[in-house]
Parts: sequence; C-alpha cells; structure tokens
Amino acid sequence: MAKDKVKESEIAVHWQEEELIVPNDDFVKQANMADPEVLERFDQANWPDCFVEYADLLDWDQRWHTTIDTTNPPFYNWWVGGKLNASYNCVDRHLKAHRNKAALIWVPEPEEESHQVITYQELWVRVNEFAAVLRDDCGLRAGDKVTLHMPMVLGLPITMLACARLGVVHSQVFGGFSGEACGDRIVDSDSRVLITSDAYYRAGKLLNHQVKAGLSVNHAKGQGSVVDKVLIWRRYPGKVSSDAAMTDGRDFYVDELLKSKKGVRVEPESLPSESPLFLMYTSGTTARPKGCQHSTGGYMSYVAGTTKYYQDIHPEDVYWCFADIGWITGHSYIVYGPLANAATAVVYEGAPTYPDAGRPWRIAEQLGVNIFHTAPTTIRMLRKTGPDEPAKYNFQFKHMTTVGEPIEPEVWRWYYEYIGKGKAVIVDTYWQTETGGFIGTTLPALQPMKPGSCGPGALGIEPVVLSDDGTSLSAGSAGNLCMKNPWPGRMQTIYGDPDRFVETYFAKFAKKESKDWKDWPYVTGDGATLSEDGYIRILGRVDDVINVAGHRLGTKELESAALTVEAVGEAAAVPAYDELKGRVPELYISLKPGFDQSGVDIEVKNAIEKMIGPIARPSHIWVTTDLPKTSSGKIMRRVIAAISNFMDPGDTTTLSNPEIVDPITKQVHEAKKAMGEVTEDERRKLEVEVRRFGED
Ligand code: WTA
Repeated sequence: MAKDKVKESEIAVHWQEEELIVPNDDFVKQANMADPEVLERFDQANWPDCFVEYADLLDWDQRWHTTIDTTNPPFYNWWVGGKLNASYNCVDRHLKAHRNKAALIWVPEPEEESHQVITYQELWVRVNEFAAVLRDDCGLRAGDKVTLHMPMVLGLPITMLACARLGVVHSQVFGGFSGEACGDRIVDSDSRVLITSDAYYRAGKLLNHQVKAGLSVNHAKGQGSVVDKVLIWRRYPGKVSSDAAMTDGRDFYVDELLKSKKGVRVEPESLPSESPLFLMYTSGTTARPKGCQHSTGGYMSYVAGTTKYYQDIHPEDVYWCFADIGWITGHSYIVYGPLANAATAVVYEGAPTYPDAGRPWRIAEQLGVNIFHTAPTTIRMLRKTGPDEPAKYNFQFKHMTTVGEPIEPEVWRWYYEYIGKGKAVIVDTYWQTETGGFIGTTLPALQPMKPGSCGPGALGIEPVVLSDDGTSLSAGSAGNLCMKNPWPGRMQTIYGDPDRFVETYFAKFAKKESKDWKDWPYVTGDGATLSEDGYIRILGRVDDVINVAGHRLGTKELESAALTVEAVGEAAAVPAYDELKGRVPELYISLKPGFDQSGVDIEVKNAIEKMIGPIARPSHIWVTTDLPKTSSGKIMRRVIAAISNFMDPGDTTTLSNPEIVDPITKQVHEAKKAMGEVTEDERRKLEVEVRRFGED
C-alpha cells in the first residue's frame, strides 16, 4: 500500500498506557505554582490574555497596548506597543536584591581546574564591557546580526547578553559544528562579525576551535559574504592555546579588546517587543538550515514564565541544565529563562562521562545542585556506562527534566529511581527550536507524571492530533501533532524566507485565504497520540514511521521494547525494503559494557513480539559498537536507514562520530550480501523514502 494511502487514523499504536505517578509532598509544598486555579486562568476561554501572567514577570520600559496582533496569520506580534530590553531583564534589574548572588557557575571539564562563580554584579560589569566592544570596536547597532560559534564557556552567555543589550541579533551556531556549517549560517544570517573561541576541553582533549573560524570566513566569502571582524574569546586569557594564524585587522582577542573598556557602561536599548532577539538554526544535517527568528517580548515572557512554573526555579536553588547553549534548550533554559528569574545556573564545559560516569554526580554534590535538566540520550548513556554511580554520591534533586526526544518508559523509570532517588519530580518537556519554550509537559506540582508521555499541552496551549486530511482524531489514534492557537514564545518567521515558514509549519492544514488565526494550526512535524486524559505521547517525527505491510509502527515503539532487554544500551529502528511486506523494521543496537552479544538478538525479537506483536518483528538486529549520532546526540536514523538499504548515507560530516559509518556499513553489507538481499532496482525504489526518513 502506498504511503500516502494509509490514513493517519489507521496507524496502529501499540503503546500501553503507563500508570500515573504523583509528585512527592515536599516538592508540592515549595512549588512556585501549586494553585489549581492556574489551570482555569490559562483556559482557552482566557486566551490570549492568560499570558499576561508571564509578561508581568518582566520589567517593561513601556507597557503594551495590544496583547497579540493576529491580522496577518501566521505572522503574529505579541505585546504590541510594549518596549523592553532582554539584557536588562536578565541582569540589571536583579542587582538590587541579588547583587552578590551567583548568576552563573562555570565548571571546566578538567577536574583539577576550579569552577568560576559569576555574581549578578560581575555579570553586569562583564556584559557592559563586552557590549562596549561590540558597539565601539565593531560598530554594531540594533538590528545588526552577528554569528557566534562558541563552546560552553562563560564568554557565550556574556556575548549573548551583550548583544541583547544593544539589540544586536545573535545567531549562535553549535560549537561542535564544522567551520563550513558555521560559514553557511554566517551567509544566511547576513553577519559580518563572527565571535568565537580559541579552544575548549571535550572528553579530555583541548580542542583547537579557532581553526574553524578561518574556514567559516572563507566558506562565507566563497558565497559572497564578507566577515570583517572575528572576535576570539580565549580559554586562558592572555595565553595562546590554538596554533591558528591571526589575520591582521580582522582577528582580535577579546581579552585584549576589553582592556580599554574597564568601567565602561552601555545603556540597554529600549526595544519594541517584536524586535528579533536571536536566530537559531535548526539542524542542517539533512537540509538547508532554517534560521528560526525569535522575538524579544514574546520569547522573553514565555521563557520567564515557563522557567518559573515548570522548572520551578527559585532564586535560592542551584539549577543545572546539561544542554549546550548552542541549542535552543541552552538559550531558553540556561540563559534567558533562568537569568530572568534571578537563578543560579551551572554551565559545564565538557562531556557528561569525562573522566567517568560519576562526573555529573560529583558536580551535583559539590555545587549543591537541586534541579537537573538533561536529555534521554544522556540518561541512556549514564545508565549504560555507570548505572551504580548516582548512589555513590551525596546529592538530592527536587526536580528533573528530560527533553529533546521521546524517553522510553524503561529509561524514565531508571532516571526516576536512580538519579532522582525516587524523590525528584520529573517533567518530560516536549518542544522545538521553533516553539521557543515548552509546549507539552506536566505542571510539576499539579499534574501527575506518566512515563513515556510528556503530559498535556503547556499552560495556554491547545494541542490537537490531525489526520492527513485535517480531521481531528480521537484519543489513542496517531496523527500529526498540531497546536491550535499561537503562544508568545513561538518563532516569528524563518529569517529571510517567510514563504518557507508558511510552507513548513502551516501549509499542510491552513485555510490559506483566511485571516482568522483559528484556520492556521501550527504543524509540529511530529507524530503523536493524545490519550483520554489529554496527555501527549510523541511517536517521533512524522517521517520516523515504518509502514510494515500497510501497518505503521513508530520507531520509538520498537526501540522502547528493545531497551527492556537488560543488555541493550541504545537502539534505533529503521525501515528496510522487503519483498513481501513493503517495509520491515531493522534494529541497530549497542550493548551496555560487560554484556555478551550471544542470544541478545533472540531476546530482543521476543521482547518486541511480546510488547508489540509479530508484525513488528525486525528482520535483522545489528549489534554495533556505537550508533551514528548528530552533535546534539540524536541517533541519525537516516544514515543507518541508508546503510540498511544499500544507499549513500549522504553527508556524514556533521555527525559526532562519522568514523563509525564505514565499519557499520561493512558489517551490514557483508552479512546482507551473503544472504542475497537487496538488488540495485530495489534500492532505487526506496531512495525518496529513506532520504526523508528521520529528518529533523
Ligand atoms: C523531539 C529540542 C519527545 C521532537 C527542544 C521535536 C521530543 C524535536 C521531546 C525538536 C520530548 C523534543 N519528547 N520528543 N520531550 N522534546 N522532542 O528543535 O521530535 O532540537 O520535534 O528542540 O525533538 O528538536 P529541537
């Protein structure tokens, strides 16, 4: 059966509903939001003014006159007429009550280097002085764009806040991306200034980051974009850590430029609410990157509010989000949200398991971290490499977050029992680069947790699951997850390409002639089900569905089943061509250390058959040493789907471990050839499907 002939409502979903778990009383007693009336206040009947509760968490230079302008859907402006500055809201306004409180605690990767504490006063001084560099040495003004290509060092949040102070729009490119990838983003964002670092530690090595700057600039130049200044933050100020050549008149060390800025103060620009605050490019691994443009007022109100209510940060807490600031999670929930709430945020430079899987727990113990935030990939890794480590350290979280990918109930329970020690509340926060902040999650003191389901729509947001023809599906049926109404944190547009914005996120279900926002649901691109109680279960990207004999399976369903086998550390399911069934799932797994691979494939097959059914039985189970991952840690199913189908895996340079592609290819192809599988013709039939598979 052709892929487009299968109705979304016919997709079989085999998840079992998990039990609800209520948060412990100690958490509820201290929670920022434990008043059930909040749910009524944010009822759709009160949309859009319900969000005033979030906007009121900020200091405004001038109050808005219109909550939202929806006259030109899907382009909306929030808090129209309002003026504010994001840097002022994250720094200056806290000086009165929190001048000497830690704003940021930076933890270097080498354990022998001590951590650095930056108080709000110190942050204010540094942001002012660096803003003076941007203004006076680079001539940057409100509305200009700059590209940042920085690792997890304090210079990064300082740079972001200095840009925000001037109204300069920052576009931070994940530090792990290549020079070329950064160059493409320089071009797309029209930046003429690049801000980078010379070096940083990752997994025990001091990486030479500055070499990428020259590559970025040359790559951009090849496309007609001239970068006239490169500012370099040094890992060790005053000391050269990279052998990259400095280009006269173009490259400058930040520590040297700052020498003449001692004591200089820069007034925060009072900016209209709809002024862009930053661009964040979504994964460029598979397609041309999209610059998601976020606003000042809408975005700041949304991250301030969701940080307070969902992350439950109080000024006295120590909060550690283990994401990279190069991704949206770091922007919203390390920098802007926490600092707007006068929090203390930990910024860790390095790899989670360096030098061993006990490192995160030593950091938590030493700094007294009580709120922890990470991704399922990290949780799986820590579970695989150091299952007994958390118990060895004296730390206790009150609150933990999981974000970025669906979490298997199995892994969720390990997080809850071993890392949370059975006491911490968990929020499984579902959202996207495009959404600015959480859009599906439980409100931790008021809505119980359900392993594997993120929870209902976030306050004020109304999720709906639509079939491909746009009808709203009943509970339990899988389809396209959409959000009916706008919210303040949603991106404004794709920078420089408003048509692509409409096409990517709305075209599928919009009534294009209509000027009523109700006719423009936001399409997340994720497949999901809504259960009777309104909880969302994300099944993965819409393309991550495997159609087996016209019967679709979510890759996550298979992977979750595989992970119930004790020896399995990580699993990824991909569709492979099958003569009889059209597609069959193949499963790639890597084992936890110390486990023998003999018999594992039978166990996994049995587990899948038991939890899903014979239809889901994988045709092959490939046991590999590791799986190809993006720099953000997501398994690149597209690459292994291509291997399984004898196709070109495409660009693998943005993978964090490109070196494993060849050995996996060899292993799989030799085995398949020996079994006489897959011919040239069959491969061509699959080309389009596999190309689209697993795209973010
Ligand atoms: C996935 C990351 C399940 C989803 C903040 C989404 C999730 C994509 C969750 C966005 C979650 C994110 N449960 N899936 N809690 N959070 N996703 O833009 O497929 O890097 O569309 O933003 O990650 O990834 P992005």
